[in-house]
Amino acid sequence: MSSTPKHVAIIMDGNGRWAQQRGLPRLAGHEAGSKSIERCVQACLDTGVQYLTLYAFSSENWKRPALEVNGLMLLLENFLNQKRDEMVREGIRLHHIGRIHELPSVCQRKLREAMEATASNTKLHFTLALSYSGRTEILDAVQSLACDAAAGKLDPNAITAEVFESRLNTAGIPDPDLLIRTSGEMRISNFLLWQLSYTEIHVTKKFWPEFDREDFLAALEDYKSRSRRFGGV
Ligand code: IPE
Ligand code: IPE
Ligand code: MG
Repeated sequence: MSSTPKHVAIIMDGNGRWAQQRGLPRLAGHEAGSKSIERCVQACLDTGVQYLTLYAFSSENWKRPALEVNGLMLLLENFLNQKRDEMVREGIRLHHIGRIHELPSVCQRKLREAMEATASNTKLHFTLALSYSGRTEILDAVQSLACDAAAGKLDPNAITAEVFESRLNTAGIPDPDLLIRTSGEMRISNFLLWQLSYTEIHVTKKFWPEFDREDFLAALEDYKSRSRRFGGV
């Protein structure tokens, strides 16, 4: 039996379908999804989960219509404006993974400000995956290792799993213990491909905007019933 997971990662999916069911624009679903984020952060603080990583925007999501992409970026900016002081107060440290330089400059600035303001916090490590792709993260790490090897600064035989992990965006963050995906889809969608190797997976049919505290606690209970063997017996 497992205890409370140290690190929970979430693929927040189903905002669009939630809105569509109600005859609302997709952006209304994304807006409602912000409330689910607040509920999950609070549940982590209450239950002692130390790392929460949210898939907020994938590299592939840039393919969506400009209206939706711009709306999502505005929501990110508003979220950071509204939550920065609360994160400072609550002991939450903000991190990001993904190609942050691809975001609008105002979002980059707000992210940097919030990360600096929360840098000394330790209660909850809250990571937003933004313009994130697991394959790109791995390729970027491989390129940086190859460059160092070609420059004679790194012995190729010394590239261990630890050395490789130190070049990933998630360096310093332990692998997720539990992955939650909402809206019933049974796929990883290019999220944390290296890090999810032995993560327990919990999928719920609920759309992200309706995912509440009880659903989060139910996912933790499901996790606790799992027997993690990591290939052993
Ligand atoms: C998840 O909800 C949010 C993002 C990917 C940004 P979706 O927007 O993917 O909602 P569905 O899957 O279309 O319902
Ligand atoms: C995954 O959801 C990305 C995020 C939650 C940010 P998508 O809706 O983009 O994934 P697919 O297209 O269903 O695989
Ligand atoms: Mg989706």
